[in-house]
Amino acid sequence: MPEQQLLEIIQDIAAGKYSNDIMALTGEDTPEPVRTIAEAMGMMMVKVEAREYRLEMMIDELKDLNRQIKNNTIATVSTMANALAARDTYTEGHAERVADYGGKIAEVMGLDDEAVEYVRLGGLLHDIGKIGFPDELFTPHQKKNPPGMVKKIVSHPTVGATILKNLDFLGPALEYVHCHHERPDGKGYPRHLTVDDIPLGARILAVADAFDAITTDRPYQKGRSVDEALEILREGAGQAWDQPCVEAFAKVLETEKSNSLKPPGSGKSSFDLIDAERFFHLLALQKGSVVADLACGHGAYTVALSRLVGDKGHVFGVDLWQNGIILVDHLIQRDGLANVTTLRADICKNIPIESKRVDLCLMATALHDLTPPDAAVGALRECARILRKKGRLAIVEFQKIDPPPGPPTAIRLSPEQVRKQVESHGFKWRRTELLEPYLYLSLFVKSG
Ligand SMILES: [Fe+2]
Ligand SMILES: [Fe+2]
Repeated sequence: MPEQQLLEIIQDIAAGKYSNDIMALTGEDTPEPVRTIAEAMGMMMVKVEAREYRLEMMIDELKDLNRQIKNNTIATVSTMANALAARDTYTEGHAERVADYGGKIAEVMGLDDEAVEYVRLGGLLHDIGKIGFPDELFTPHQKKNPPGMVKKIVSHPTVGATILKNLDFLGPALEYVHCHHERPDGKGYPRHLTVDDIPLGARILAVADAFDAITTDRPYQKGRSVDEALEILREGAGQAWDQPCVEAFAKVLETEKSNSLKPPGSGKSSFDLIDAERFFHLLALQKGSVVADLACGHGAYTVALSRLVGDKGHVFGVDLWQNGIILVDHLIQRDGLANVTTLRADICKNIPIESKRVDLCLMATALHDLTPPDAAVGALRECARILRKKGRLAIVEFQKIDPPPGPPTAIRLSPEQVRKQVESHGFKWRRTELLEPYLYLSLFVKSG
């Protein structure tokens, strides 16, 4: 009986179980009024589904917006943190390094991705409370802490937590800022908490913070070696620092040591078999240009570019790999190159090239070597931001002959794939110089 069938389907729909069975009742052979009711129900379902779909889309958009707002706020607060670092040359890059070490310790300790992110965030902002310090605290002074300043110093975790307290998305990271100078034995500050009352994230950051303070030059001490720093941390484990966090950090350092010989994505490549300068002549590089070599790795191309643009030009070697930057600096000094600046920066988010606009951005195999997957998107966006209006973007692709150990990360991209990826970011393809199927240089210009 169609009536019975219709009733059952309507009951199902009312219970939230949508089915397409209703459509079977809209045919010519279904008697009225069942057919008309079935058609009306069918239309209703289509509309409900369309509305659900729209809602889902809006939720996605809201999530995106939320993410953007969060990122903008982090960027704003980080800018404040950087402004703070600018007053104090000794702690330049300190917040980023503490965030980086902290995140790695959290990973080794098996924390989930979200928790790791909160530790990083806490690391980035942990010393924001120093923003209210008087200038004397940032000028070199002989003794470690002149007595009058101690009170100011010990207030910075509380001041930091107060500054940040309205940023909901910081979640537990807010307490990490508040507790990063607490000690397991209760001799820390500002609240003298003991081990169980200090959040794990804060215990992790305390280790990362101490390590960075010990290994960098300070007004009152010369930076110690990594091994010495680890020894100091181990001696204080259980009292000054949380033992499991110190041991996790020892593992992080061990891994770093074995990775430090080669930058990510390094290894012998087809590019090494040709003359870099000859290859880059294809760029028709003008003397005096400003060039940014993004994801510069161990700097071979930065050095080649530096020679090509000559004394009047300028080259920025940008990478997030600190040991790579150290290597590039070493090459620059060795070869007496005066026109290069190295920048350790997250090339996906913020390349601090503010005073100069760039004529050429170079990215060698960066489109696929970078992790996480949306890093290439961020890097291309950064290229669009720092390039002059008529600036060019050069993508070099070459084949890895002797890849670094570990799982393969470089998936070869054809010139067409590269073109498609780059053009979707507001660039126009100009030409591709093909030397071999996977050894080529593609040139793009900024469109619009
Ligand atoms: Fe601090
Ligand atoms: Fe710190």
